[in-house]
Amino acid sequence: MHPMKFLKPALSRNLVKEDIPDALAVSYEELGSDYLSEKDFSETIESDSAFCKAVTYDGQFAGFAICQVFGPDNVDDMLRLPDSPERDYFLSKDRIGLFDSTAIRKDLQGLGIGTEIAMACYDKFVSKRTDVICAMAWKRVYGTINVEGVLRKMGMTPYLEILGYWNRMVDSRGGHDCPVCGRPCKCSAVLYRREM
Ligand SMILES: CC(C)(COP(=O)(O)OP(=O)(O)OC[C@H]1O[C@@H](n2cnc3c(N)ncnc32)[C@H](O)[C@@H]1OP(=O)(O)O)[C@@H](O)C(=O)NCCC(=O)NCCS
Repeated sequence: MHPMKFLKPALSRNLVKEDIPDALAVSYEELGSDYLSEKDFSETIESDSAFCKAVTYDGQFAGFAICQVFGPDNVDDMLRLPDSPERDYFLSKDRIGLFDSTAIRKDLQGLGIGTEIAMACYDKFVSKRTDVICAMAWKRVYGTINVEGVLRKMGMTPYLEILGYWNRMVDSRGGHDCPVCGRPCKCSAVLYRREM
């Protein structure tokens, strides 16, 4: 399932405290200045339910993925879905795995590194016996979903698109500071999922 695109070794491992400055720099550039904070990474490292993977390429930090595992009580807090059959679907599940935030350093994108870290997260979801895995994929205002190829490799397919979603996910005045379209963000989110 892993593509063999990379010319040098890409390796996934658990993110550690010392990686946080590198992870924050990638997040700032790729996901926006207000999307993840140092606290988000440190809380994930210490959490029992969430986990965070780092990926290195030729020994250098290349990117990260934050994932959550939760039950029906946290569906609204985690996914913020509108009243819909999709929300009802997740409310009926006991263990939900969310491939939450991921970003690869801009100069290393397209080499298969995002797929490598996604597969490491997938394996972890399997070991945690999730009933379903899902992601809210960032669809840029001009229509591209960069992470789509990665999600399809994890076996996920799209179900629902939510406009203006990212402004609801950050606590910033005036909306999300999007690295593509500015503040407020005009991009949308597409819910992908796969029953396990
Ligand atoms: C999305 C992202 C994590 C993918 O990581 P990556 O290392 O570039 O991905 P890979 O090289 O493993 O490529 C996986 C698939 O995605 C496709 N892909 C890669 N970059 C892409 C891009 N910029 N736009 C569209 N598709 C892209 C590739 O074609 C590949 O499919 P293929 O193997 O069938 O050709 C990375 O591009 C990124 O950090 N983007 C900016 C932040 C972002 O959008 N994060 C996701 C938020 S939901």
